[in-house]
Amino acid sequence: MKHRLGGVYAITGASKGIGRAFAHALAPKASALVLLARDAKALKAVSAELTKLNPKLSVETYSVDLSDPKAIKKTTDAIRKAHRTINGIVNNAGYARPGYFHELPADEFEKAMRVDYLGAVHVTRALHDLVPKGGLITFTSSVVGYMGVFGYSSYAGAKFALIGFAETLRQELAAREIQVSVLCPPDTETPGYAIENQTKPVETQALSAGAKLMTAEAVAQKFVNGIERGKFLINCNFDSALIYRLKSIWPSLVHRIMLGMIKKAQKKKLS
Ligand SMILES: NC(=O)c1ccc[n+]([C@@H]2O[C@H](COP(=O)([O-])OP(=O)(O)OC[C@H]3O[C@@H](n4cnc5c(N)ncnc54)[C@H](OP(=O)(O)O)[C@@H]3O)[C@@H](O)[C@H]2O)c1
Repeated sequence: MKHRLGGVYAITGASKGIGRAFAHALAPKASALVLLARDAKALKAVSAELTKLNPKLSVETYSVDLSDPKAIKKTTDAIRKAHRTINGIVNNAGYARPGYFHELPADEFEKAMRVDYLGAVHVTRALHDLVPKGGLITFTSSVVGYMGVFGYSSYAGAKFALIGFAETLRQELAAREIQVSVLCPPDTETPGYAIENQTKPVETQALSAGAKLMTAEAVAQKFVNGIERGKFLINCNFDSALIYRLKSIWPSLVHRIMLGMIKKAQKKKLS
């Protein structure tokens, strides 16, 4: 089933980066956008950009910490009061905190699950019944959602979980003819990515060194194209699509290639 773009979209993590680019990409087709993130000022700024582009568009902003289920309940109750229909739920908020597994604090693993995984689960549970036949529910996972990558132990757990959740939801919501999609961006130039770079181990840096950074706008365009084509798992460039295929047909080769790059980086670090 293919979702036809239009109507009301709730977008989490819309204050910057990929979520902001989603809002811009959906704005020409939408009648209303409901933007969620913590930073109220940044949300207002995005709202102003959008209404300047499309004065007919209605934009609402909700400042909410998605790691807090009570705050999600309060916010989604308010959204339910304002809307009887949400044509699309775009679960995008998230962050990554790279580091060596043994150096990451224990609560980092819990925080990653609360923000990157449970935030999306709770928002979806609270709003899915407002999504009509032909509607859309999406998740932003990552290439790290189908391939473990050195330095991303806390993030990978949460992003793998999202894909499993989305696959299940896709089956359960098929009877309601709701399209469920998962976007798996590669390294993308965003404020979040700049923060990630501050704690990346040298091995992680080496693994992503050859990859060309995508812009948030290009990722959002791939997202829109993938949705219009009714795709479930949306990769954003040739390299990620190749890795995805290779990982499913020849995982030991992918592992060997990555291990080779990691060992080379470790040797360089010691020399
Ligand atoms: N950039 C990449 O290379 C890349 C690659 C693959 C996947 N992704 C995924 O793409 C999504 C967007 O990432 P990005 O790179 O655009 O990061 P970003 O620039 O840091 O934007 C992240 C968004 O999520 C929101 N957010 C983070 N924690 C939140 C919380 N606890 N409660 C509510 N909102 C929260 C942020 O808003 P506030 O700070 O205002 O709360 C912001 O709007 C994430 O799920 C990320 O994992 C990114």
